[in-house]
Amino acid sequence: MGSSALLLAIETTCDETAAAVLEGPRPPGVGVPIIRSSVVASQVGLHRRYGGVVPEIASRAHVRQVLPMIDEALARAGVGLRDLDAIAVATRPGLVGALVVGLTAAKSLALALDIPLVAVDHLEGHLYACQLAFPDRQVYPCIGLVVSGGHTSLFRCDGPLETAMLGGTTDDAAGEAFDKVASLLGLGYPGGPEIERVARGRNPKAFALPRSFLHDDRLDFSFSGLKTAVLYALHGPNAQSPEVLLDEAGLGDLAASFQEAVVDVLVAKARQALARSGLKRLGVGGGVAANSRFRERIAAMGDAIGVEIFIPPISLCTDNAAMSAIALPKLWAGQVADLDIDVRAGLVRPGRG
Ligand code: KG4
Ligand code: ZN
Repeated sequence: MGSSALLLAIETTCDETAAAVLEGPRPPGVGVPIIRSSVVASQVGLHRRYGGVVPEIASRAHVRQVLPMIDEALARAGVGLRDLDAIAVATRPGLVGALVVGLTAAKSLALALDIPLVAVDHLEGHLYACQLAFPDRQVYPCIGLVVSGGHTSLFRCDGPLETAMLGGTTDDAAGEAFDKVASLLGLGYPGGPEIERVARGRNPKAFALPRSFLHDDRLDFSFSGLKTAVLYALHGPNAQSPEVLLDEAGLGDLAASFQEAVVDVLVAKARQALARSGLKRLGVGGGVAANSRFRERIAAMGDAIGVEIFIPPISLCTDNAAMSAIALPKLWAGQVADLDIDVRAGLVRPGRG
């Protein structure tokens, strides 16, 4: 047994099938795990024509991709199955049929190789990606913000495994709102990069769009009213009408106004959580963190109030298996899963079900 441990991580929570090999020091060694390999098979092409993720299509694609991704991750890391010390898998939250594929592969490997299985929370993984991306800096304790197609949630993170949810979306996730609004504007999928593209150089103040809960004490989010406001701006009072009232410049202004409204709320709520907790670090994860206006505004907020901002490179913001390196601290803490563990679709949100 060497001084470091090798972990194979599997990720199938939504629409990316991913695997990674991580290497981290065994206790009493200290240090952040390193990524030996990380591969992702994106299903975006399969879901594009539907404008969103279709769960059954996602599950079937995971079934096709999970073993090739595991083989690819092992090959790129130059290790064999017998070199592994543990298997990690994200078991929550996510699409049930998708989660089951990854968990079944992970259980089978753990059983066959007689090594521990570690179950990880996908959102804790998204935040741990900040620590992986900045191994020489102290990320915890921090406020964590996950902004993706499936989630918009704020956490207090006293350590990688000590996270408590402070609030989340009451309807659509921020990325989902980008995807739905892009579809209303006749843009492609995924919507975030498309909205960002047409909004570039346009006027973000052209349309007065709602910013739900902005002046509310709750650390929650709501984007469905914003989506409806975009619909009315596009078609007028008869939202069912196929007629679009805006020219190309107007559509760009509407995209820019929408983007600004989402970013305003995300930045304001993160700032509120920081102020309330007194914490001086913010870790961000999820696909929406790829948005350049968001990155610019969150960095400016950090500068203004003296808070360190951690946003990983885009490959570690979007879904990936490397972030499941959080399984190593979990393993050292003795948190090994039983082989009869099940998946869980929803969030673990204390006190709110
Ligand atoms: O984290 P992610 O890859 O997958 C999960 O949903 O878990 O996030 C995907 C979401 C999509 O809704 C996509 O539209 C959004 O992230 N997104 C963006 C940008 N790039 C991706 N949203 C805004 N601006 C972007 N540049
Ligand atoms: Zn995610």
